[in-house]
Amino acid sequence: MVRSLTKRLPFTGLHGHCYALLFSAVVLLFFSACTGQKEQAFYTIGFSQCVESDAWRKTMLEGMKRELAFHPNVKFIYQQADGNSQKQVEQVKELLQKNIDLLIISPNEAEPLTPVVEEAFTKGIPVIVVDRKISSPLYTAYVGGDNYEIGKMAGQYAMHLLNGKGKIIEVTGLPKSSPAMERHKGFIDAIKNYPSLQVVQQVNGEWLKQTAQNEFSKIAALHPTIDLVFAHNDMMALGTYEAYKSSGLAKANIIGVDGLPNAGLKLVSGKIITATMLYPTGGEEAIQIALKILNKQPFIKENLLQTTVIDSTNVRIMQLQAAKTTSQQQQIERQQTMLKEQQRIYNNQRTFVYILVTSLVLSIILGGLAFYSLRENRKISKQLQEQNEEILDHQKQLEEMSAKAKAANEAKVNFFTNISHEFRTPLTLILGPLEELLANNKNHYSTSQTLGLIQKNVVRLLRLVNQLIDFRKIEVEKMKLKASENNLIPFVADIIQSYKSIAQKRNIDLRLITKERQLTVWIDVSMLDKVIFNLLSNAFKFTKDNSYIHIYISKSEDGNNALIKIEDNGIGMSKDAIEHAFEVFYQGEYENYQGSGLGLALSKELIRLHKGTISVSSEKWKGTSFNICLPLGSAHLEKDEMAGPDQDSNQAVLYEHEKIFTSELKTETTIKTDTEAIQTEKEYSVLIIEDNSDLRHFLVNKLSTQYEVLEADNGQGALQQAFDTIPDLIICDVVIPGKDGMSLTRIFKNDFRTSHIPVILLTAKTAIDQQIEGMKNMADAYITKPFNVSFLEQTIKSLLANRARLKEHFTGELPSGLKTNTISKPDRKFINEFSALVETNLSNENLTVDDICKNMGISRVQLYRKVKALLNINVNDYILNTRLQKAKYLLRNESSTIGEIASETGFSSPAYFSSVFKTKVGITPKEYRENK
Ligand code: FRU
Repeated sequence: MVRSLTKRLPFTGLHGHCYALLFSAVVLLFFSACTGQKEQAFYTIGFSQCVESDAWRKTMLEGMKRELAFHPNVKFIYQQADGNSQKQVEQVKELLQKNIDLLIISPNEAEPLTPVVEEAFTKGIPVIVVDRKISSPLYTAYVGGDNYEIGKMAGQYAMHLLNGKGKIIEVTGLPKSSPAMERHKGFIDAIKNYPSLQVVQQVNGEWLKQTAQNEFSKIAALHPTIDLVFAHNDMMALGTYEAYKSSGLAKANIIGVDGLPNAGLKLVSGKIITATMLYPTGGEEAIQIALKILNKQPFIKENLLQTTVIDSTNVRIMQLQAAKTTSQQQQIERQQTMLKEQQRIYNNQRTFVYILVTSLVLSIILGGLAFYSLRENRKISKQLQEQNEEILDHQKQLEEMSAKAKAANEAKVNFFTNISHEFRTPLTLILGPLEELLANNKNHYSTSQTLGLIQKNVVRLLRLVNQLIDFRKIEVEKMKLKASENNLIPFVADIIQSYKSIAQKRNIDLRLITKERQLTVWIDVSMLDKVIFNLLSNAFKFTKDNSYIHIYISKSEDGNNALIKIEDNGIGMSKDAIEHAFEVFYQGEYENYQGSGLGLALSKELIRLHKGTISVSSEKWKGTSFNICLPLGSAHLEKDEMAGPDQDSNQAVLYEHEKIFTSELKTETTIKTDTEAIQTEKEYSVLIIEDNSDLRHFLVNKLSTQYEVLEADNGQGALQQAFDTIPDLIICDVVIPGKDGMSLTRIFKNDFRTSHIPVILLTAKTAIDQQIEGMKNMADAYITKPFNVSFLEQTIKSLLANRARLKEHFTGELPSGLKTNTISKPDRKFINEFSALVETNLSNENLTVDDICKNMGISRVQLYRKVKALLNINVNDYILNTRLQKAKYLLRNESSTIGEIASETGFSSPAYFSSVFKTKVGITPKEYRENK
């Protein structure tokens, strides 16, 4: 499962990558779609028109728009001021605020509009002035007809028409607008050389037909003989004509300006006016120049448009041309419309294609993703399937294995239980005849002792087997409580009675202490019996002679429980032992006492069946107390857990248990007497440190024929014995109360008084690491239980012989008079201690007699006398002798240099060593080595 999840992670990452890719693709597509057209800057052009009501202005605007059609990147803002200069100023300011890139203006009047145009120009906004001018050079370009030229052409035409003689009325545009001023000037300049040709009246027509008509009507009657009217535009010319028509006066020649196809040309061809001066609007040109300026292309500042005279002679051609132009214009417009349509279709199609391509790409990517996901999912599901199968396989294997293990375990346990049962019969059969043999008074004393030992151990085995069977019964829940109402006081008193004689022999104060006369409890006597016997036996095992074991029976304070307390002042338990006391097979520190490690565990189970509790409190070397709490009454018991009282069987059980639990304690002291009886003075002494009294006595018995045997059953006692007597050999059990065998060995081997003593470690533990540890602590031999007695005896012998040989190597032969087996124990201790001290300090060249005295706690005189008496040798000679013996040994057996041996044997220099050696041995150390 974990594997599948981790597999998914990169896949999720891949999804992330794909989405990023997808997004990039889409963005790229749209980006390329938008950049399909050539990139162009967008411009805003503002156009301020002075007036728009007339056809000429409309034509100009159309011209501009036509041209703008070619420049879709231009935004065009158009405003017109209705012929009001002030209004136009305001409008220009508005345009400037709109951040236009370029201003086109046709100023209504020059002066009023000049400041605002200058403002725009100085701000850096290009200004194109069209048609009418301002009175400042601060503009970017000018586009328009040459009004002076127009005026001049009109003057010349008038001069030709009137043959240099006649009266003229001039109808002007707004006098402050530049075309009106320039046209007037040109006209005057053209006729000024013809004095007979006179402008008799000027009328301000304000560029408007109606104004011209009105103003002309006012003065027409004043000039009945007027030959010609020069109107500054065709509209005012028409106004003049209308004035004539309504006045009834004969119409003079009328010349106009502008020449628009639908206006001036029509008037000429309709003979309403005589001629008109072509005045192009310059709309297209203005936009063209504007684009050049904006695109930073070269342009011409002053752009004067061509003009011409149109009268009856060329009006037709002009009209045709105009018509043609118009039709071409329309054609262009149509084409433009079509182009726009095409463009629109193209744009639509392009957008469609983009969407299509994008969708396609998206589909491909998504398809790819889906495919990939599918494949990955398939892979993962396949993996999962495989894993599942694997797990199922494992599960099956495990199930099979556990079934097998269960069956094997069951078989093992059954075998174990059966074999335990099997043991009971032979054990019982041994016990019966044994008891008969023991009852026979004719037995030799030692035979009785041996038979007692056999009986004790058979009973012990029987008890262990019983405990095992009981435990198994509890384990498989076959042991059922059969409780009956019993008075606890006589019940416990009876059991205590079984221990009375043992207590008496060992001077143990065994007492039942209770205030109750009667305490009725529902108990299974055969079970509680085992518990009490077990606890009492333990108390006896862990309590020394002359101490006490007290049994208290009481009611709990709330009156609901019976309490039994078994208290002793024995050796107590360690914290670890207390913690594990009730665990099965826990043997604590005292393997020999605990035996199977079942007793307490079984007791706990038996008390549990009674719905009671058992606990322990103990302090090392102070004592132990076990506390049993049993509920009173029968409310806590099931029906099938209760049985009627059966006194007979109780008695039988009690007898059986008494035998099983107490016989082990009874025979304990008897063998000792035997060993004491056969003690005599021996050459070597052996200290046996063993807590199991049977084994200890057995060993004592075995060894005391050859050695002086000393005993200790705990660590402290062992140390005391060892340092008091300095034995020749120590046999030590590894697990003993107090200090363990390892620690004791360490202490012995590190103390100069005992370091030379061979130590044999004895233990039931066969584990190799235990042996290694034993050897690390410098034990000389390690013998595991059960051991062969001859092997032990042989080991003792060879260790003692080795020791003697080594000693001889070091010290040479002791004086012949010395017989170690005739000297007293304290003297042997003295010699052992003295020689050990000398040997340990052999390399110390500064070793003095005083040092030895100090270490041995005796005076110089005492030392000299004692050594002389026992060894028949002077102390210093003994030391020197020992040094030389060791030197000889080293020269023979080691490859160290003479110098090294000298220092190892306590000579201050090799030379001194050689000289002493030669004096005492007769040859030099070197020669000695060569002759070895
Ligand atoms: C139109 C118009 C034209 C004339 C021009 C002069 O408004 O009056 O007829 O030629 O303006 O600016």
